[in-house]
Amino acid sequence: MTTIASAFDATQIEATAARLARSHPADIIAEALTHFDQLTISFSGAEDVVLVDLASREAARLDRTFQVFSLDTGRLHPETLEFIQRVRDHYDIPIEAYFPQSEAVETLVREKGLFSFRADGHGECCGIRKVEPLGRALADVDAYITGQRRDQSPGTRAEIPVVQLDPGFGRDANPLVKFNPLANWTSAQVWQHIMAYNVPYNPLHDQGFKSIGCAPCTRATHPGEHERAGRWWWEEATQKECGLHSINLER
Ligand code: ADX
Ligand code: SF4
Repeated sequence: MTTIASAFDATQIEATAARLARSHPADIIAEALTHFDQLTISFSGAEDVVLVDLASREAARLDRTFQVFSLDTGRLHPETLEFIQRVRDHYDIPIEAYFPQSEAVETLVREKGLFSFRADGHGECCGIRKVEPLGRALADVDAYITGQRRDQSPGTRAEIPVVQLDPGFGRDANPLVKFNPLANWTSAQVWQHIMAYNVPYNPLHDQGFKSIGCAPCTRATHPGEHERAGRWWWEEATQKECGLHSINLER
């Protein structure tokens, strides 16, 4: 099987994104499964669990395989860690954990303490705890799947396509292919799927957490508040990307 990375250049990926622009997330995931042998889901332990659910169904139907990983920043809520284990058990799949480099964390904490992001922004801490491990998680894959949606962040995600090349990662000079199957789904559609298919979900969602990241950088939101308001709430909306999806800021 050829990988899409070699079969898809930038023009072709745009054509594919246009073709799949209004497709159901299951069909977008099926496309990814069909074309890639080395495909992984970037799972945050939040409502992006629908990706794992849909991929499990589609992989069984198509007789294909996929991997799942989570970036364990060391600052996730205990509920999120329990939930990741629950998903692992429920779907009977290994979920790889990628941890930050201990020396980098030790240096950061020694020099700036445990909450440096409150004083000088989340970039440095996210760089150490999320972005560097993400590079390792993606080192040996040809494509990955994220749970980004357009409605998550009007400031930074309003234009994300369902599939794109991610020049920030990749191997042998081939940019990684990044699928965003939920791009066009709303939060309501995600929750309809979770409820309709009895998909396990993070109990923090029942406590007012709409968007879930690291514990010190996530708070519950009030009714009517945008879900992103609960993330890095001391920072500007346009800065609310942790570097995992820096391509959004470039666009
Ligand atoms: S973030 O960039 O602000 O932290 P967000 O929480 O909106 O991201 O999640 C969007 C997508 O990024 C998730 O659906 C997932 O694909 C990926 N992601 C975010 N955090 C993690 C994590 N800790 N581990 C793995 N993937 C993650
Ligand atoms: Fe650090 Fe907060 Fe980023 Fe987590 S979200 S890596 S705690 S700055």
